[in-house]
Amino acid sequence: MAIKVWVHWLSGYQQQIAREMTDLLIRQGIDVQDHDDYLSTYPGVIFSNEVTPKICQQLHELSRNGQIQILVCCDAAMPSDAVWQLLEAGAADILVGSGWHTIIHEIISRLQRWEAVDRMVHSPLVQNVLVGESQALKTILRQVVEVAHFTDASVLVLGESGTGKELLANLIHTLDPRPDKGDLVILDCTTIVPELSGSEFFGHERGAFTGAASSRDGVFALANGGTLFLDEVGELSLTLQTQLLRVIQEHTFKRVGGNAWQRTSFRLVCATNRDLWAQVQRGEFRADLYYRIASYVCHLPPLRARSEDILPLASHFLKVSYPDQDPPELDAPVQEYLLRREYPGNVRDLKQVIARMLCRHAGKGAITVGCIPPDDRPMWTEDWKEWRDTGFERAIRIALNRGVGLKAISRNTEETAFRIVLEQVNGNTQQAAQLLGVTDRTVQNWKKDRSLTHKTEQFL
Ligand SMILES: Nc1ncnc2c1ncn2[C@@H]1O[C@H](COP(=O)(O)OP(=O)(O)OP(=O)(O)O)[C@@H](O)[C@H]1O
Ligand SMILES: [Mg+2]
Repeated sequence: MAIKVWVHWLSGYQQQIAREMTDLLIRQGIDVQDHDDYLSTYPGVIFSNEVTPKICQQLHELSRNGQIQILVCCDAAMPSDAVWQLLEAGAADILVGSGWHTIIHEIISRLQRWEAVDRMVHSPLVQNVLVGESQALKTILRQVVEVAHFTDASVLVLGESGTGKELLANLIHTLDPRPDKGDLVILDCTTIVPELSGSEFFGHERGAFTGAASSRDGVFALANGGTLFLDEVGELSLTLQTQLLRVIQEHTFKRVGGNAWQRTSFRLVCATNRDLWAQVQRGEFRADLYYRIASYVCHLPPLRARSEDILPLASHFLKVSYPDQDPPELDAPVQEYLLRREYPGNVRDLKQVIARMLCRHAGKGAITVGCIPPDDRPMWTEDWKEWRDTGFERAIRIALNRGVGLKAISRNTEETAFRIVLEQVNGNTQQAAQLLGVTDRTVQNWKKDRSLTHKTEQFL
């Protein structure tokens, strides 16, 4: 299927060149479309030779705050601060150059990569495993898919307990495209008994020590050709860190009590809920090992920092609990309860509270507040009437500190409300109008305003 992309050129940019570029893209099999759908998710190419606050604002909106991949191409050298401004505004990459026949291949390579990554991110392989709608999670998924599928880099997964580190390690192994891939071997570093650590890592020969009745492979041998996942890697003693470093560098090891060198090659994924870099600075974790295990660092944010994931995760856990039938819905007060609740144990906590509610649920109707076990129930306070939570106030404070005026804040609030509702009702005008408390006409006009055409002079 052809890669879909929309293209814009901005005033100040030579229209003739932009047209030629667009034709070249079409001739290379790219399906160039108008950006006429505010819910469209395919990437875009913008030709621009200048960076103004207005362009940055447009880029911010078109990229939906960085969710849609947009490539900005300029034919004149941009000052380096302009490049950073464009990135900050949501551009996925910026290409500078006037040799258009060369640059067209660069554009196509990026579009192909983004399309491949996007396809994988939206595949059931990923969507049914790591659930979430937040921008933070989507950004992580895109990066993890890219690292897992297109490189053999080691990955360090950081995050509080219950954020999904092990799930992510599994996903990295699943997405690894090595032919005849070996197994995913998991070693929880908190469970390593010091006396048996050598055997755990290297394996042992029969009779190597008292009790070694038969020979045994260690994780380095078991993970050969596959992935070694070292969970809670921050718990490794300095001695084991040194041994691990040697094997990662040399790809060889000997069994305890053995003489023969064995070769091994595996992808390494490590996880910890500790601040590993602080451990390095305190001399508790070897810096050289840190750099080896952390070619790519992925930080899974706590659930409180991605509340958009709460309801999709709740639905996911309900679906998993009812594999053969439609799961019950969550009624509105229960949804609000889940959104307001605190989750010190992160996603695991949410999973458990859903399981506890299901224990009390009877019938085929929605899950209601009575299903919330008494110990989980919130104390009702006057605060519950308030919908503007701390996140809302924080965003406004940041905007004001950056000099964003009231008009822009109101416009963005309106913009966000429209987008959330339209996504919720799959673009249905009447339903959106009802939820927003406006007329159908207002929704239609909003959609029309967001429909951009090739006549990009309208764009600015
Ligand atoms: N994004 C997600 N989508 C679906 N399930 C998730 C997600 N994140 C976490 N979970 C579920 O939450 C639970 C905890 O996840 P996991 O064990 O991967 O977390 P962890 O970060 O390794 O926790 P810990 O630090 O306690 O070992 C698991 O049941 C997992 O399936
Ligand atoms: Mg874990």
